[in-house]
Amino acid sequence: MTKPDQDRVVIFDTTLRDGEQSPGATMTHDEKLEIAAMLDEMGVDIIEAGFPIASEGDFRAVSEIAQNAVNSRICGLARANITDIDRCWEAVKHADLNRIHTFIGTSPLHRAIPNLTKDEMADKIHETVTHARNLCENVQWSPMDATRTEWDYLCRVVEIAIKAGASTINIPDTVGYTAPAESADLIKRLIEAVPGADEVIFATHCHNDLGMATANSLAAVAGGARQIECTINGLGERAGNTALEEVVMAMKVRNDIMPWNTGIDTTKLMAISRRVATVAGFPVQFNKAIVGKNAFAHESGIHQDGMLKNPENFEIMRPEDVGLSGTSLPLGKHSGRAALRDKLENLGFEVGDNQLKDIFVRFKELADRKKEVFDDDIVALMRLGEDGE
Ligand code: KIV
Ligand code: ZN
Repeated sequence: MTKPDQDRVVIFDTTLRDGEQSPGATMTHDEKLEIAAMLDEMGVDIIEAGFPIASEGDFRAVSEIAQNAVNSRICGLARANITDIDRCWEAVKHADLNRIHTFIGTSPLHRAIPNLTKDEMADKIHETVTHARNLCENVQWSPMDATRTEWDYLCRVVEIAIKAGASTINIPDTVGYTAPAESADLIKRLIEAVPGADEVIFATHCHNDLGMATANSLAAVAGGARQIECTINGLGERAGNTALEEVVMAMKVRNDIMPWNTGIDTTKLMAISRRVATVAGFPVQFNKAIVGKNAFAHESGIHQDGMLKNPENFEIMRPEDVGLSGTSLPLGKHSGRAALRDKLENLGFEVGDNQLKDIFVRFKELADRKKEVFDDDIVALMRLGEDGE
C-alpha cells in the first residue's frame, strides 16, 4: 500500500462497528446501509462496517455495504483466528477497496484472557496476519490495550505483524488510559524503534474514558500517526470513541499548528450527526463540540451584541462550514436590546427607540418566566402592545 502524503490524515470511521457496540445503540440493516452511504459521500477514507463473525445480520450488513461502496475502503473486524478472518473476507471482498482488520489483546491483563504466553501469542499474530494477508492485500493489525502493553513486547509484536504483511498498525488506547503527551511519545518511539515501521501507516484508536480521546488522537498524529479511528458523535463502548467531527474540525480550524488535512466534506457533518443520533437513539448533548444544539448559539446580551457586530467575536468557525444555515441567537433572560431589535426586524417589525424600551421591559418579564422566548412569543408581545394592553 502506498503511504499517503505526510500532511494527509486518513479518516477511519468505526461508527458501524465500535459505535454500534455502545449498549443500546444497535441499528437496523437499512439504517446501517444509510449511514454507510452518508459516510462514503462525505469523504471518509475507510469505513469499518462491522464485525462479520458477530452475527448473520452483521455479516449481511458488511457484505451489502461492501457491494454499494463508491469511494470508501470497506473494512471488517476479525479476532485473531482463521474462522473470523475467513468470515470477514467473505463479507468485505465485494468492495473494490477492502480491508481485513484483525486484533488481539497484548497487555498482561488481556493476554490472560486466552491464557497465552508471550511466545504463543507472538506465533498466533504471525499466523493470523499471514493468513489475512494471503486473502486480502490490505490488512490492518491492532494490539488491543496497546497503551498498557509492556514496551518491549509491543515493539516485538508490531514488528511481527509488519513482517507478516500488515500495512496499517493501529495502536488502540482501548480503555482511554493515555494522556496526550504519552500518546504522541508512544507513536514516535514505535516508529523509531520498530524495524519496517516507516513502511506502514500508524493509526490511533482512542477511547474517551477520561475525556481525552480527541486530544490523544491529535497528539498521536503529532507523533507520526497518519490514521485516526473515530465515530460520529463519539459513539462507542463506555464513554465512546474519538469524535470524527471534533478531530476533523480541529485540524481544519487550527491548521496553523496542526498542518494536516483530511478528505472530509465538513458541510455534511451536522446532517450525519443528527441522523446517527436518531438511528442509534443517542441524543447529542446540547453543549457537544461542533454538533451540539448550542455549539453555534449565543444567549447572553454581551455575546449577542458582539455577534451582531462581528461573528468572529465569539465564533472560531463558521456555522456553514459544518452544515448549519447560520448562527442562532435564542432569546432568553440574558439577552439584550440589540438581539431583541434584530429579532423584531427579522420578524418584520420596525420599532423606534422608545417602543423598543417598552417592549424590552415586557420581554424581560416574559423571559424570567420562560427558558426560551420563541418567535411566536415576540409576535404575541407586539400584538399586545398594538392593542394597548
Ligand atoms: O478499543 C479497541 O481496542 C478496539 C480494537 C478492536 C481495535 O476497538
Ligand atoms: Zn475500540
